[in-house]
Amino acid sequence: MLKGRSLIEPLDLSKEEMEVLFDLAFEIEDKPETWKDSQRGKLLATLFFEASTRTRLSFEAAMMRLGGSCLGFADSGSSSAVKGESLADTIRTVACYADVIVMRNPKEGSALLASRCSGVPVINAGDGGHHHPTQTLTDLLTIKRLRGDINNICVGFCGDLKFGRTVHSLVKALSGYSGVKMIFISPKELKIPSYLTSSVFKNEKSNISFSETDNLDDIMGELDVLYMTRVQKERFFNEEDYIRLKDSYILTNDKMKAAKKDMMILHPLPRVNEISTEVDDDPRAAYFKQVRYGMFARMALLSLVLGYK
Ligand code: CP
Repeated sequence: MLKGRSLIEPLDLSKEEMEVLFDLAFEIEDKPETWKDSQRGKLLATLFFEASTRTRLSFEAAMMRLGGSCLGFADSGSSSAVKGESLADTIRTVACYADVIVMRNPKEGSALLASRCSGVPVINAGDGGHHHPTQTLTDLLTIKRLRGDINNICVGFCGDLKFGRTVHSLVKALSGYSGVKMIFISPKELKIPSYLTSSVFKNEKSNISFSETDNLDDIMGELDVLYMTRVQKERFFNEEDYIRLKDSYILTNDKMKAAKKDMMILHPLPRVNEISTEVDDDPRAAYFKQVRYGMFARMALLSLVLGYK
């Protein structure tokens, strides 16, 4: 089904394909020993031109837990990119060694370019402020595991909605579900891009909807999922603006008093100040469970892309 395919943005997968992936992820979570040799002899290349903890390490952990091996680099400074090698030549080279490539790059569109130059599947691990589809698989898998259903929910996206690629990808993916209400909570400088809302919410007859506000407290009680995000320092053009906006929203136990008893707090991480550490002990804080589901989502994705039968 997904064998040999690249994943550049979330809608590269149909809803049915995502469901197959989620079922496989749950199967792997339940019986990890069944899968421990399923990718023996296969090689994953992780090419990270931009910093990462979770995405790179969870892909590497995923591949190793499937019995495969990994190679790659964790910053562009240790690759021949510093000598001026083009991305296309780097990808053509790595595709001679590996069976699948996972790449993060600060340039929007770089993952699509890489997939066009590669003889093996390319998985986008984040291209600038554009997309991060495997974080979306992680987010949806977490919602499905903890709530049982992704339909008929109210999701609040809070923080940097302008530069946050995980938000852009999740908004697109949620548009495929039914009865989803999205509330975008941000300062005016970090609003969700209008190109995204106008494409996702263009069908007036669909039963998904959105609204925008700058006040988290006002809408807290409506939410089933609160998706907190970090203000993306690395994408700001001047430090003054970053300092002014970075602490726009800080989730505390006091603010959580207005939330539903079964609301789920997600965050793609890394966190800076936007969720106070006191909230970590609240049973509604699901962001470290989300980290673990990220590994199962990537184990399932690698299994489907490489084939496992
Ligand atoms: N969520 C996420 O992409 O984390 P990293 O930047 O640590 O990979």
